[in-house]
This record gives sequence, C-alpha cells and structure tokens, in this order.
Amino acid sequence: PDGDSDRLDDDVWWFSKRSELLELAKDGPAYVYDVSTIQRRAEELQGLGLDRVFYAIKANPNPEVLKTILDFGFGLECVSPGELEHAKAMGASERLFTPNFAPKEEYISGFESATYLTLDNLHPLRHWPEVFAGRDILVRMDPGHGRGHHKKVKTAGAQSKFGIPPEQVEELADLVKRHDINVIGLHSHVGSGITYAATWSETAMFLAGVADRLGSVRILNLGGGLGVPEKLGDKRLDLSEVKETIAAFRQARPEFELWMEPGRYLVAESGVLLGRVTQIKEKEGGRFFVGLDIGMNSLIRPALYGAYHPIVNLSKVDGSPKIVADVVGPICETGDVLGHKRRLPVSEEGDVFLIASAGAYGYVMGSQYNLRKPAIERILR
Ligand code: LLP
Repeated sequence: PDGDSDRLDDDVWWFSKRSELLELAKDGPAYVYDVSTIQRRAEELQGLGLDRVFYAIKANPNPEVLKTILDFGFGLECVSPGELEHAKAMGASERLFTPNFAPKEEYISGFESATYLTLDNLHPLRHWPEVFAGRDILVRMDPGHGRGHHKKVKTAGAQSKFGIPPEQVEELADLVKRHDINVIGLHSHVGSGITYAATWSETAMFLAGVADRLGSVRILNLGGGLGVPEKLGDKRLDLSEVKETIAAFRQARPEFELWMEPGRYLVAESGVLLGRVTQIKEKEGGRFFVGLDIGMNSLIRPALYGAYHPIVNLSKVDGSPKIVADVVGPICETGDVLGHKRRLPVSEEGDVFLIASAGAYGYVMGSQYNLRKPAIERILR
C-alpha cells in the first residue's frame, strides 16, 4: 500500500545522536533541541548581510534556545508584554515590539520596555495620539498579498488582520505630522514558511515605495517567514538567492538599513519530539493506527494546518517498511493525528517514535487539553 515514508538520512542531526535520544526518551515524552543546529542556522542568517536580525521568539522562547541565539548578537522580536518581559530577563538588549490589536496600555508600557515599537493600525494614532507624540516608531504595511505554507499563516491582503494598506499612507502622513511622531522604519511580514527566495526583496521594493511618500524612513524591516523543508529531502530555500536579491536591492537603494525577524528558520530543524508507542489497532480494509503517548496537546501543527512532520520509529531504524498507518495520540479528538498514512516498520508497544522538524511552534503552542501534560523540553549539546 502507498504511504509517505520518511527515510533515515545521515544528514539530519538526530540520526547521529540516535542513541542519546533513545536514552532521553526513557524519561517520558520530550521535545529535544540540538544546540549546534541552531548555531548553524544562525551563522547562515548572519551571512545574509543584513544590518540587524531579530529572532521572533514566538517560535520557541526556551531559555537555552534564546541564550544560543543571543550569543550571535541578534535582537529579539516580541509580540506581547509577556514576551518582552521574558526577552528582558534573558538579557536581550535589542527588543523589537510588534503588537497587533493590543490595548492602549500595552503601547504605553511598550515604549518603556522595548527598544523599538511597530504600529500595525491607524486606530492608535487616531484615538490615542498622545501615547506616540514625540516618539520614533516603525509602521507595519500590508503589501496586498500574503505567502506561506497554509492559508492560516498568510499575513497580508484584505482578508488578513495585519498591516496598514497603502491607500492609508496619506492619512498616516497627516497624523504623524500633526502629532510630531517620527516614522523611522517600515515593516512588512507577509507570512510564514515561505520558500520563494525573491519574497524579501519584493517586500523591500514595496516598502521603499511607501518610504518615498513619507520622507522620514531609514529602516526597512523585511519580516520573517523563511521556510524550512517539510519532508526530509525536499528542496531547501536557497539563502544565497535571498542574499543576492537583497544585495541587488541594496545597491539600488543604499540609503536604507535592512532588518529581518525570522523565527522558524533558526529553530525548526533543531527540534524533535519523542514519544513511545502505547497501543496498535487494526480496522477493516487493512487500516492501521499506531498510538503514541504524545498528541495534539504537544504538537498541534498537523491538526491545525495539516502540517507534515517526518515520523520515524527510532527503535527500528533497520526494519524494512511493512505497514501503512496513521500515527495518532491519546487525545479525545478525531483530529489527533500526527501523521496520516505513514509507511512504517511494524511497530510494538514501547518503541520510541521521533517527530522531526518540531523545534518551531511546537512546545510553545502546546496545551493542557484533556488535562494531559504536553511533552517537556530538553537540550542536547
Ligand atoms: N514577524 C512577525 C510579525 C510574525 O508575525 C511572525 C510569525 C514572524 C516574524 C516569524 O515568522 P517565521 O520566520 O517563524 O515564519 N504557528 C504557525 C506560524 C505562525 C507565524 C506567526 N507569525 C506555524 O506553526 O506554522
């Protein structure tokens, strides 16, 4: 029978660290993050030639992960007072605050606890201009169409709640002039899990056009969204192509500082989720279900976005694939499926399963649903 098979390759870190992972799995369900993988991705991003990189901590705010990233001199991008407080406690000196539809108080306190603040709507300037008077701000623009791995993560276009549409630039210009506000930067983040390399230079060109209408802008923040391969062996986003297109933009418009704020790219592949087989079921028509002690309360991405995460039976790497099964968790929901129709070795109760590419938007999106504790976090060096 047909099914997706995740072949084991020695170019993924968890292949060489298999015995350590089997050992760690004995203590119960866990996310495991490999520090050297984060460091490699950080080095790649440093090579893009940007003026500043802010890590979007929403992807994975684990303290050890943050320490690793801060060592590269990156700032942190935060979207809530909680994230700002965490970033500050971790010693991040550069904190970029990008709230949306937040209450007035969060902007007032944001100016105290953040280095830079990005405005996502005209409402605050129309209704509480006193909060912004005399301040430097960045403004998030909506270029009109989004990109990303799923419709729920596209963050531009009329249907999306994010950003200010270009037709409101004149009013923005009037408001900031009237209240002595200085728009030092423009921002746009069009979505998450993007593998089209020209995305960020297109964003830069769009923002430069808006900057020309405002006159005060010196920073263009091109957002995050850099994608990673979903399946092992899928084509990688070519960072050298991203670099080339950004360099071409810079040559045309050298007056701007260029920033980016990636999350997923730094951490996704560094993380795996480990669980054990609890039970196996067979239904008519040769339909198999392999049950694990981890479910959608630990990793919600498959249920929420239909996201594909490679799944392997770590206890039986040499076993030839024999069954096609849905890999499911213990949560009382039909959607509690971590992988549909996976070609797997015949598995037994107690086998350790590894779910790959789980370092971004994994643990942090976990929940207590069914009052089951989600997997804990561990670090591998
Ligand atoms: N900047 C802003 C303003 C954002 O909203 C985001 C992500 C990022 C940067 C970082 O994007 P990244 O480089 O990680 O793609 N939970 C979803 C992803 C939601 C992304 C939300 N915003 C998922 O699991 O795919």
